Amino acid sequence: MAERPYIVGNWKMNGTRSMLSEARAIDRASQRLMKVEVALAPPFTLIHATHKEVEQIGVGAQDCHAGEEGAHTGDISAAMVLDAGAKFVILGHSERRQDHGETNEIVRDKTESALAAGLRIILCCGESEETRDAGKAEEFVTGQLRASLPASVAAMLESGPETLTVAYEPIWAIGTGRTPTVADISAMHRAIRATLVELYGEDNGSAVRILYGGSVKPDNATELLSADEVGGALVGGASLSAENFLGIVMAAVDLPE
Ligand code: 13P
Repeated sequence: MAERPYIVGNWKMNGTRSMLSEARAIDRASQRLMKVEVALAPPFTLIHATHKEVEQIGVGAQDCHAGEEGAHTGDISAAMVLDAGAKFVILGHSERRQDHGETNEIVRDKTESALAAGLRIILCCGESEETRDAGKAEEFVTGQLRASLPASVAAMLESGPETLTVAYEPIWAIGTGRTPTVADISAMHRAIRATLVELYGEDNGSAVRILYGGSVKPDNATELLSADEVGGALVGGASLSAENFLGIVMAAVDLPE
């Protein structure tokens, strides 16, 4: 792993202010673990409070609208999440694609808008079980990635590879307790890496971190994080408890250099 491992918790639609104690505990422990970059994406309603509560870890949003402002009832812009204290945004999560009909084009527009506002991006991709069974997982995921990345990413990467992180999350592994084999994760991450190198050149394409997400737990984290080209994890359920999440962070700390 070239860069520091990046362990990100996605709280999804979970958490009220009583959960801030978990964020605080994660933050306090992470202050002593400089080998790993740790971040949390709470729901919109907790972004500002989490930002105020923590000192070390990154705070991000789980989505934003592609527009800058205006008549979009219930939506939140990139500038708004930035103003609330978010430094990054997760875009293109399969739950957004499924629940809200987000297409690659919508994800691309959101990515463009979030980059322009100054947010770092965690761009999600991942195949369904049907697509994997049909032997088309790599083709699907790399196609999804190409179609979700706006042209402006290339220039942004010139100023720093941390602008973009890709998260590979097979839909069938999310919240199910099932994970791909290490060989399958490595193969997919290598295919994603090859796509990034083709799009952004050897230096910038190699520097983008690729996270694995889908049923990452303290007891499988070492194995999953050791897979080739895995630069960290995007964690759902296990990020809701400081104890479980820190178990995953510790697995990243203990990885061989
Ligand atoms: P789980 O860790 O609950 O499987 O969720 C993964 C995920 O979707 C993170 O974005």
